[in-house]
Amino acid sequence: MAGEDGSTIKKSWKIPLFDLSFGEEEKEAVSRVLSSGWITLGEETEQFEQEFARYVGTKYALFFSSGTAALHVAYISAGIKKESRVLVPSYTFVSTVTPLIWCGAHIIFGEISGERNLNLSHREIDDKKPEFAVYVPIAGFMEGLAEFAEESRKRKVVLIEDCSHAHGSILNGKRCGTFGKVGVYSLYSNKNMTTGEGGMLVTDDIEIYKKAKLLRSHGMTRLAYERYRGESEVYDIVEIGYNYRATEMQAAIGRVQLKKLDRMNEKRRELVRLYRSLFAEVNEIKIPFTHFGTGSNYIFPILVPAEKRAAILHKLTQEGIQTSWHYRPVHTFSAIKKKVGLFHLPLTESIAQREITLPLYPDMSPEMVREVVNATKDSL
Ligand SMILES: Cc1ncc(COP(=O)(O)O)c(C=O)c1O
Repeated sequence: MAGEDGSTIKKSWKIPLFDLSFGEEEKEAVSRVLSSGWITLGEETEQFEQEFARYVGTKYALFFSSGTAALHVAYISAGIKKESRVLVPSYTFVSTVTPLIWCGAHIIFGEISGERNLNLSHREIDDKKPEFAVYVPIAGFMEGLAEFAEESRKRKVVLIEDCSHAHGSILNGKRCGTFGKVGVYSLYSNKNMTTGEGGMLVTDDIEIYKKAKLLRSHGMTRLAYERYRGESEVYDIVEIGYNYRATEMQAAIGRVQLKKLDRMNEKRRELVRLYRSLFAEVNEIKIPFTHFGTGSNYIFPILVPAEKRAAILHKLTQEGIQTSWHYRPVHTFSAIKKKVGLFHLPLTESIAQREITLPLYPDMSPEMVREVVNATKDSL
């Protein structure tokens, strides 16, 4: 249904969970591509990849149709295959895990560090003896990643980073995706920067880069636009690959969004500073993580008493405030139980029962933050 301003989606929440930060530049970028005569993987994508790699500080970046597709290819390219022992958090989005199932890996769910740090604990490496480990900085907080990377290095565990929450996060001067062998950023529409759908694989490893590039496009040695540019018509298929390519329009949007990323993150940071100060004296509410000044603040998770969670959610919904749940632990989903087997992770399960994600996006106003905080406090 079209709204008065011509938009096709009517927003019904007074304060939504997130909102896009798009302007005229994104529209101009798309229309430039539409006029160019080439709309799938080509020069715009190559530019986006180079700019993204420069921003993150890796040698290579590859643009994919989704974060899930990029993760799938990252896992294969890093060497994960049937029966590989892979340590992965359950406290994450399901698609950190599903591509591991496609690979036939032996999945080992690990525990989070604690109430203060919802990321996978480095102690799990010693306990579970994996060959590979996947780290997900929840909400963009890289707290614990340096210790996790060090422990992985000592135990010769191949580390892969799912940086889907961490656009712009920084730890000890390094960005997500540079601690392990390969990293992946989702560029889905609710991320700190977006291409609508999309994902970016980043790595310093030439072999991973070459393999991932082949797998992205049918294992072909020559891409369509290279042939269009007059390079050889002859190609071979050297891998059994996929079609995980994105379009030039998406790349063009991504280039604009990347330029705005630090500015948008700064706005998030200010709002989180306000949220934290307004909740500071509320004993029943705990806010995980501390490095909000250097994290991306992709979402704003709070922990409430488990027995009060339903009442708080009810009150916020009544007030027109949208919330979310990050996350229902992956090991509790029915299809995952069937495929992966039964796990019991007491800490992950108890923290998940206390989590509520409150609205956060760059163009949210401080008044909106106050309104959310007041409604939350009232409901207690
Ligand atoms: C932690 C995490 N991993 C992976 C993904 C998958 O990304 P995509 O939706 O781009 O496939 C997401 C996206 O929501 C995510 O939050």
